[in-house]
Amino acid sequence: MSKKIFSGVQPTGNLHLGNYLGAIKNFVELNNDNQNECIFCVVDLHAITVKQDKDQLKKNILETTATFIASGINPTKSIIFNQSKVHAHAEGSWILSCISPMGWLNRMTQFKDKAGKDKEKASVGLYIYPVLMASDILLYDATHVPVGEDQKQHLELTRDIANKFNKDFDCHNFLKAPEPLIKKNFSRIMSLKDGLKKMSKSDPSDLSRINLTDTKDEIINKIKKAKTDSLPIPSENEKLKSRPEAENLLGIYSSISNQTLDKTLDEFGGKNFSNLKSQLAEILSNKISPISDEIKKLLNDKEYLNKVLTHGANKADEIAEKKIIEMKRIIGF
Ligand code: AMP
Ligand code: TRP
Repeated sequence: MSKKIFSGVQPTGNLHLGNYLGAIKNFVELNNDNQNECIFCVVDLHAITVKQDKDQLKKNILETTATFIASGINPTKSIIFNQSKVHAHAEGSWILSCISPMGWLNRMTQFKDKAGKDKEKASVGLYIYPVLMASDILLYDATHVPVGEDQKQHLELTRDIANKFNKDFDCHNFLKAPEPLIKKNFSRIMSLKDGLKKMSKSDPSDLSRINLTDTKDEIINKIKKAKTDSLPIPSENEKLKSRPEAENLLGIYSSISNQTLDKTLDEFGGKNFSNLKSQLAEILSNKISPISDEIKKLLNDKEYLNKVLTHGANKADEIAEKKIIEMKRIIGF
């Protein structure tokens, strides 16, 4: 069956191995399947829910676009664009925010994490961020949304919002509730310095993450310095339960080499970490550094990247505009 795919990545810099294994690698596989229609969005309106430097934001939009292409998304096959170029996203978000109960948004754990202790100071945009995400997805009738585990709750909310809109306005199946596509075992890549913390763009320690722009030497060095424990690697999955750093490194190895965790445990069970680290460093540097080289090359051709975004925005706008016109008609405008 053909799938309509939509996903987004924020242009907030430091795209890392978690973004790649949790999301972008999956985007590439979906792009390569000729049955699918794919749309990949650089979600710049989401990025401004926290303060951004204007010049850095511009750079990050191009860097995220370059990362998509360098990872293997083909811009002549899939639509790549940045969200702020298509008006319907913000308009749809407003309409949907008017039917979304505050109680639903109050449950969102990402807001609680990002807003931190002083919620009064967080922007209203950060609070309704998931409604904008619902608008992104629903404008394109996306059937499947590839994301990392941390976005699961937002996708459930998207489904609830779609169903509520259809019910409130008596328009059965007008907004299509999408299915999440979350890679089961490897959808949450953890920090290299603390196996209980998510690998994140905003971690102050650069050693906590492998950036997609890191060189071979940087990757090797970061894996060498990654936190481990003092026991040998186990052969069974259950024994990883209280060993988050071991589980993370084995998970990364499995994901990047496209094999199951059980196969990786067969390979490394009983051995010490230096063995796993040297093989992990090799496979990661072989897979990530060509992407990193290609990102740098593409960033030298800003004209090309801007062309991709403009072309993508025109195509996205054609689809989204039809949907927003219909949406406005349904609500009585
Ligand atoms: P963001 O950078 O927050 O826009 O996230 C872009 C995509 O990467 C989303 O689908 C996230 O779920 C995914 N992602 C971000 N961090 C991680 C991580 N540490 N492990 C797995 N997926 C992640
Ligand atoms: N909220 C997502 C994240 O932080 C990014 C995003 C915005 C998104 N709109 C989307 C992902 C639509 C999937 C579909 O990772």
